[in-house]
Amino acid sequence: MLQFRTAGPEDWPALWSIMEPVVRAGETYCWDPSMDEEAGRLEWLPGPAGADPTLVVLVAVDAGTGRVLGTAQLHANRGGNGAHVANASFLVAADAGGRGVGRALAVHVLDAARAAGYTAMQFNAVVETNDRAVALWASLGFTIVGTVPGAFLHPSAGPTGLHIMHRLLLAAPVPAATRGTAGRRQPPQATMGS
Ligand SMILES: CC(C)(COP(=O)(O)OP(=O)(O)OC[C@H]1O[C@@H](n2cnc3c(N)ncnc32)[C@H](O)[C@@H]1OP(=O)(O)O)[C@@H](O)C(=O)NCCC(=O)NCCS
Repeated sequence: MLQFRTAGPEDWPALWSIMEPVVRAGETYCWDPSMDEEAGRLEWLPGPAGADPTLVVLVAVDAGTGRVLGTAQLHANRGGNGAHVANASFLVAADAGGRGVGRALAVHVLDAARAAGYTAMQFNAVVETNDRAVALWASLGFTIVGTVPGAFLHPSAGPTGLHIMHRLLLAAPVPAATRGTAGRRQPPQATMGS
């Protein structure tokens, strides 16, 4: 069973252990593959010093072992008149992949975004070769509204498209059939951004 909560500074070692292999692989995010741990922390869990006041970092925890299995960022996609649209990013531990953690975390984040007042969610840069992510987001109601050709330099595939994926949040909540069995806490309130 999964539990969801806001990440704290004490979670950073676990988050870096999840994030570092994704950084080094360089296949799914527009991150420098040589990024060091401090830069990783500024990217994922900057704390109050972070530049984005809307950022909420969440973790999915195995309720039995207490281990952090996945993490997500939720924040306003843009500032000002674009701050009603959410953006989110996801990481699941490699050895916990394919077991529904990503789906359960995404459902939780969609609920949290809706509760925080966001009216839509947009992903700006889904690497088109990232089949698992593209399929997961599509199954959760996201559509590809466009693909920026060759915008991502994949380490083995070369220039690769980046999908912009979008879904509205005003409609009915995510159908129960797509939800995981994870327990759910009250979603955090994201401060609407500047
Ligand atoms: C993308 C990611 C978050 C998914 O997390 P996960 O816990 O492995 O996902 P789930 O176990 O919930 O599986 C999601 C779906 O992908 C499907 N899937 C698995 N491998 C797949 C593949 N190679 N191609 C297509 N779909 C695949 C699963 O069947 C599952 O669908 P289902 O629930 O209908 O069975 C995780 O793989 C990850 O952290 N990847 C690295 C970072 C990343 O890509 N983040 C997203 C950037 S947009």
